[in-house]
Amino acid sequence: MNHVILIGYMGCGKTTLGRKLTYKLRISMIDTDKWIEQHQKKTISEIFAEEGEESFRWMETECLKRLTTERGDHVISVGGGLPMRPENRVLLHTLGRVIYLRAKPETIYERLKDDTTRPLLQGDDPMGKIRAMIAERGPVYEECADVIIDVDGKDFDTLLEELVEAAQYRPIFRKQTYRKS
Ligand code: S3P
Repeated sequence: MNHVILIGYMGCGKTTLGRKLTYKLRISMIDTDKWIEQHQKKTISEIFAEEGEESFRWMETECLKRLTTERGDHVISVGGGLPMRPENRVLLHTLGRVIYLRAKPETIYERLKDDTTRPLLQGDDPMGKIRAMIAERGPVYEECADVIIDVDGKDFDTLLEELVEAAQYRPIFRKQTYRKS
């Protein structure tokens, strides 16, 4: 399958850049969080509060399994925690090429400091949480990615250009990295 899959920590730009990428590639977009919200008829915050994170993680895997039966190519933006399950990483590679939008904790914090929609970042010390989670998840994202794009300090158009190129990259021989500008 030839989907273009965007992974990365919350706030790295998967949804915003992904949407622009769909216009460039003339394909449509699937966002795993939105897919789950539509199927569950609840917001992510409600799912976390009422059913717990573990149930949400099962829903993510179920979503990926369902996507393997979809026709056509899409830009697929996945929730920040989704690649952490080994089973999900296998499914991602079945679905297509995986692009990691890599951002520093400081960049994420600036973008998400007033956000109320991410249950994992509510409460005290969001910066501490972001740092700890990126330290844990970063190596997994890197391992999972066919292409890595550093987002810090780059303008939107540059990122979009890199993304279009990355979307066409064939991950046959080695990992491709677009470093800091
Ligand atoms: C999560 C990221 C969120 C959403 C949920 C959990 C995570 O998606 O799936 O709040 O564990 O990083 P985004 O990365 O799209 O914000």
